[in-house]
Amino acid sequence: MSKPVEIAPVRGKLGILLVGLGAVSTTTIAGVFAIRKALAKPIGSLTQMGTLRLGKRTEGRSPKISEVVPLAGLDDIVFGGWDIFEEDCYAAARTAGVLEPALLEQLRPELEQIRPWPAVFDQRYVKRLAGPNVKKGKSKKDLADQVVADIQAFKAGNGLDRMVMVWCGSTEIFATESPAHASIAAFEQALEQDDPAIPSSMIYAYAAIREGIPYANAAPNLTADIPALVELAARTQSPLAGKDLKTGQTLIKTIIAPGLKARLLGVEGWYSTNILGNRDGEVLDDPESFKTKEESKKSVLDYILQPQLYPDLYNDLCHVVRINYYPPRGDNKEGWDNIDLVGWLGYPMQLKINFLCRDSILAAPIVLDVALFMDLAKRAGMYGIQEWLSFYFKSPVHAPGLYPEHDLFIQLMKLKNTLRYLVGEDLITHLGREYYD
Ligand SMILES: NC(=O)c1ccc[n+]([C@@H]2O[C@H](COP(=O)([O-])OP(=O)(O)OC[C@H]3O[C@@H](n4cnc5c(N)ncnc54)[C@H](O)[C@@H]3O)[C@@H](O)[C@H]2O)c1
Repeated sequence: MSKPVEIAPVRGKLGILLVGLGAVSTTTIAGVFAIRKALAKPIGSLTQMGTLRLGKRTEGRSPKISEVVPLAGLDDIVFGGWDIFEEDCYAAARTAGVLEPALLEQLRPELEQIRPWPAVFDQRYVKRLAGPNVKKGKSKKDLADQVVADIQAFKAGNGLDRMVMVWCGSTEIFATESPAHASIAAFEQALEQDDPAIPSSMIYAYAAIREGIPYANAAPNLTADIPALVELAARTQSPLAGKDLKTGQTLIKTIIAPGLKARLLGVEGWYSTNILGNRDGEVLDDPESFKTKEESKKSVLDYILQPQLYPDLYNDLCHVVRINYYPPRGDNKEGWDNIDLVGWLGYPMQLKINFLCRDSILAAPIVLDVALFMDLAKRAGMYGIQEWLSFYFKSPVHAPGLYPEHDLFIQLMKLKNTLRYLVGEDLITHLGREYYD
């Protein structure tokens, strides 16, 4: 046992600010409401269903995670958010078409109360979308101030104790770091000057971080993972996490690839294709938004398989990722993976995976967990990049000079050991000598 980290108690209400009230957000919100009313179970959520082994295997101590660390309860969550469409959360959930109308009907009054505030939006960054519920401002700085005003009004209006923000907006076009992102001073000047290097998502991120609010990015676009906002997060003690929720095909990829590597099976080719018919699929049909997603999805195998350490097994790996917009499927994505494997003496084998998943059903528990763990991080004085939350993301944000950890099982161990560390419990190394000494 070591000294526990001091964690501020959970009291009062937690506001979860969601940017974009689309399929993922509405499935998260309606899901929390349904679970509160005991209409459904929080399947897929570590904070609600997960356990944490403490001490030796012989001790038989495996309490629920929520009994080990102080997390906000579902009854104490208030949701708010922005969207470029004016539909309330009930109508938006109907549009998204993820949850059954019969379930939404039972939650209708509370869903209808959530009406999106006008968004910061510029079509240059999301080409396939246009909507009427958009803020006007003299500059990007002015728009950021308007977002701060929304946040403050939400806090005061609901008597909130704390808040977290999660970007669940559409995937913006591919961007790389530029001089405007290098420091807070450069970033704030760029905000004043309407620099095109600052997309809408960065304006929300800046507003949240300036207010000391934890910020997580559920999408793959460049947002808070720039030096200026990391610097601001240190100054305001805001936790950061992201990016791109690890659901569907990439989740399966990061489950299968570590297994193949563990047995030193070679991989010559990994062909992944998807059909998806929701609004996300439509946005990703634009090559510039798809490029952002593709970069995020493709990096995973390189880091897991480590071709530099195993050139004979993975040097010539051909990794292809495709997403095809196919409206009839809506949110029910279908993914196919063909993996060309190589075994003993170079003999070829094949593995085919056909995953008929539901994107937002996989994403919603992650948004909830990330929001609750980010709130915990803030109360525990952990700020800046929260690498222990890599478990949830396709492109985990990480410190400069480090490579990201993509292996789902290492990520889970890291997350659970972080929780043990926070409460002063022994870390679990899985050495296990003591059972035989
Ligand atoms: N569902 C998943 O499994 C999954 C996994 C990883 C990442 N993501 C990412 O999460 C994001 C949300 O996915 P979704 O399926 O809910 O998409 P969606 O299209 O249903 O919802 C996105 C919403 O964001 C709104 N929006 C866009 N730009 C905005 C802005 N600047 N301000 C406010 N609102 C804005 C859109 O109007 C839309 O309602 C996407 O970027 C997606 O790529 C989803």
